[in-house]
Amino acid sequence: VTSDTILSTLQLITRSTKQTQQIGVYLGRLALPKDVFLLVGQLGAGKTCLTQGIAWGLGIKDWAASPSFVIIRELQGRLPLFHVDLYRLDQMAEISDLGLEDYFSAKGVCVIEWAEKGLSLLPAENLLINISFLAPDERKLKFTATGSRYHLLLKGLKNYANSD
Ligand SMILES: Nc1ncnc2c1ncn2[C@@H]1O[C@H](COP(=O)(O)OP(=O)(O)OP(=O)(O)O)[C@@H](O)[C@H]1O
Ligand SMILES: [Mg+2]
Repeated sequence: VTSDTILSTLQLITRSTKQTQQIGVYLGRLALPKDVFLLVGQLGAGKTCLTQGIAWGLGIKDWAASPSFVIIRELQGRLPLFHVDLYRLDQMAEISDLGLEDYFSAKGVCVIEWAEKGLSLLPAENLLINISFLAPDERKLKFTATGSRYHLLLKGLKNYANSD
């Protein structure tokens, strides 16, 4: 294995909500059972927007914004999507009480918003996606892959992004 076959980070700039959703669609198409995507970024960065795209890419038709008190929801597509939002949880005990291990061991795709709040309880191998603001409609998406599965996934994502 030479170093250029390993892709551990990737940065993409999006200039609209739609472009961020499209990156999500690519991720949803590439996703495999047990994939874990950790989303990090300020309020309004675009974590849910990216998740919506992932849902579409998984073939989920009935995406709807969830009420803010919903912490975990499951949507059925080509694979189940477990959409977790840790925003309202501040104690590690509350996060550990969610029993996220059950979702990690199920054959679905886990997408976790505000993942930084529970990092020590989340799988060490994951795709970390950090979204930051560049301008009102512009975002930087930084992907960091930990584990061979996610290096491969990033390659796939890069191929898709280059085909735009
Ligand atoms: N390039 C872009 N990518 C993503 N969202 C964008 C972009 N430009 C503008 N937006 C807008 O930014 C907002 C992102 O909201 P979203 O709910 O996805 O953020 P979030 O990170 O999930 O926030 P929260 O922490 O509250 O859950 C939306 O209103 C979206 O339309
Ligand atoms: Mg959100």
